[in-house]
Amino acid sequence: MHRLGLFAALALLVACAAGASLGPGDQHHRSKKMMRGPKRGLKHKVNVDDYLAAPSNVANQHVSFLPPQPVQRKQRSPYAKHNSVEHSVNPTRQSRFLSLFSVVRFENLECGAVSGDNGTCLAARECIERGGVASGPCAGGFGVCCVFIVTCGQTTYQNSTYFVNSGYPGPYDGTGSCQLTVHKRHPDICQLRLDFDQFMIGGPEIINHVCSNDQFIVSGGSPVPAICGTNTGNHMYVDAGAGYTSPVTLTFVTSGPAFPRNWKVRISQIPCQSNYKAEDGCMQYHTGVTGQIRSFNYDSGMGLQLSNQDYSICIRMERNFCGIQYTTAPDPVNNRSRSFSLSGQTTGQNQVTSMVGSVGPNSCNGDWIIIPCAANAGRAPSIEPTCTDRICGGTFNSEVSTVPATVFSTVKPFRIIYHTNNVEFPNDQSNRGFALNYVQQPCTNVMN
Ligand SMILES: *[C@@H]1O[C@H](CO)[C@@H](O)[C@H](O)[C@H]1NC(C)=O
Ligand SMILES: *[C@@H]1O[C@H](CO)[C@@H](O)[C@H](O)[C@H]1NC(C)=O
Ligand SMILES: *[C@@H]1O[C@H](CO)[C@@H](O)[C@H](O)[C@H]1NC(C)=O
Repeated sequence: MHRLGLFAALALLVACAAGASLGPGDQHHRSKKMMRGPKRGLKHKVNVDDYLAAPSNVANQHVSFLPPQPVQRKQRSPYAKHNSVEHSVNPTRQSRFLSLFSVVRFENLECGAVSGDNGTCLAARECIERGGVASGPCAGGFGVCCVFIVTCGQTTYQNSTYFVNSGYPGPYDGTGSCQLTVHKRHPDICQLRLDFDQFMIGGPEIINHVCSNDQFIVSGGSPVPAICGTNTGNHMYVDAGAGYTSPVTLTFVTSGPAFPRNWKVRISQIPCQSNYKAEDGCMQYHTGVTGQIRSFNYDSGMGLQLSNQDYSICIRMERNFCGIQYTTAPDPVNNRSRSFSLSGQTTGQNQVTSMVGSVGPNSCNGDWIIIPCAANAGRAPSIEPTCTDRICGGTFNSEVSTVPATVFSTVKPFRIIYHTNNVEFPNDQSNRGFALNYVQQPCTNVMN
């Protein structure tokens, strides 16, 4: 009976810490139970009271909430119920306590909402207070999966916020400026990651490929080029600076011809110390041994390469990998692949050679990518191997050629710089930009 009583008291405390509303009777009930508590678990009670004193702080706690571990008793994992017979036959107060508090401890983790979106697990009341929408339960029913969806003219302080077009999920075809103000949730947020779950606005004008009608603009953070067109599935990092800084503003300008635009941008706030923060100076950041990188508005069928781009794409060096190689992604539309078409007249099925370097007749002086000391894979290593930095043209190759190659680099960290100027016509026509697949190369004796 007594044990049950304590159990009930703890359940109440958890509910309370989680922000559930307690009536005056409940409050009384709680304090009566608490008065009985000290003899049984004084050390733990201190923790509980810390939480009750500042229930709103629960939202900011992610670690270090396990009560002090008694040394005299062998600990059992609260997660190991299924493989610990002893645990279920003889449940101790300690283990019950732990399993209850593990619920609170997981309070603010990411959760999958029934809507299909990613939410944050919060107490129901806190979700409403923060302007979110509850979408299914989490934390064993103690919380709700709270989804934050905002649109034009609004302000957000929340991690994992979705910025959608007005009229979402329907399209928007009006003209105007739709702005979202993003404040850091904490001063220790250093970056924002923008995931373009949906991104379809007007493309660039067709002469010089400048985003002069519709555009997506980021201001208040590190400089980011304006982009336009279709960018679903792509992403962007914005450096928000350390400490309290002015907010970052995301703006969709729609001034082109009528067109069913839609966007849904997920904004994640990235702590300065987190292990998933992008390396400094990277506007795009990829992880994993293999992957694909694409320029904005890339589409081999009809997406025009954007002018005025100037940014770095970084690939995290995975453990025990020392080099990286790139090949063009398959082009399902054109016989003559346009998955690398940066300069020259790649109209129709025109063959345009690769061009390399910054001086000479086949050099890159308008639009290019830089892969530091890039060389073709499979070349017999010469005594003095040559490599290049800039590559452009209509064929991907580190040497002048009309045959695409696999290009590798062992310069660390793994980065590509992408630059385009503000002119296309008449020398550059129909260029699409690039889609490259990368594969990191394991360290060997000769390459390290
Ligand atoms: C939810 O998060 C996962 C992992 O970050 C991501 O792959 C997925 O696309 C997200 N879903 C939505 C609807 O944003
Ligand atoms: C912020 O949101 C992202 C994406 O939903 C999630 O992976 C991350 O854990 C969240 N960060 C914090 C500190 O809650
Ligand atoms: C590709 O080549 C085939 C056969 O020569 C031709 O029928 C087709 O129209 C070409 N496709 C394009 C996009 O030019």
